[in-house]
Amino acid sequence: MRKNILEWSLMKEMIETTTNLYRLGWDERNGGNISILLDEQELSRYLDVTCVLRKIPIDFDASKLARHYLLVTGSGKYFKNIKKSPEESLGIIRINETGTELDILWGFSNEGFPTSELPTHLMSHIARKKVDTTHRVVMHNHATHLLAMSFTHELSEKAMTKTLWKMCTECLVVFPEGIGIIPWLVPGTNEIGEITAEKLKEVRLVLWPFHGIYGTGKNLDDVFGLIETAEKAAEVYTYVKSQGGIMQEMTDEQLKKLAKQFKVIPRKGYI
Ligand code: 13P
Ligand code: ZN
Repeated sequence: MRKNILEWSLMKEMIETTTNLYRLGWDERNGGNISILLDEQELSRYLDVTCVLRKIPIDFDASKLARHYLLVTGSGKYFKNIKKSPEESLGIIRINETGTELDILWGFSNEGFPTSELPTHLMSHIARKKVDTTHRVVMHNHATHLLAMSFTHELSEKAMTKTLWKMCTECLVVFPEGIGIIPWLVPGTNEIGEITAEKLKEVRLVLWPFHGIYGTGKNLDDVFGLIETAEKAAEVYTYVKSQGGIMQEMTDEQLKKLAKQFKVIPRKGYI
């Protein structure tokens, strides 16, 4: 007897997280998207994985994710409504044997589709899995203060990273490898996916200027906490600027002491 998929702790966590993200204002309308790699055995307790509802072609080589299952947000679906209609707003997909097609196994009711950012999500999973065996989640949203900083701060990865590190003592500990930044690119394309995934070989956070942020991690809490920490730093930066700018701040020497105490290795050449 299969269990009700809406009772799955992971599904509950997804609904709770997306509701929270909406409340924080980082996922207005359908802004933002999430995908989570699933364990086949665990999923099979809730779903008959041999039952394919629909098939959708993939127009890049996703063979490195062949036979992988993912829980994904739907394209154009309002985060506000996920709790109310999870089966319409979310879906479970499987990449086929050759990485050329995906099977829809659950959700996306009313002819819905996975997020338009699926190329970036899949390419990001491939990139992160290579460097982190615990990797499972990719999250994109329009975190307000980080997005705002892409207009007012120099778009150099080193300069942006150091500003964020210095806005809040915990930042260096949470993302010692820093933040990646790509040029402005059209969303939903393979190109933005390839360039984002390239950055994700070295960092877990990538800023899309004038658009939003991408974060990756081992579970929803992990990636949420990562984005939340960077976003908090960006919020503090906003206040600092509006209070007239920096009068004093942590020195590079203090950042080094912090790294030593918390046993993290800051990005080489940054401090
Ligand atoms: P989707 O609704 O297709 O997920 O797109 C939202 C978004 O944020 C695009 O970058
Ligand atoms: Zn977006």
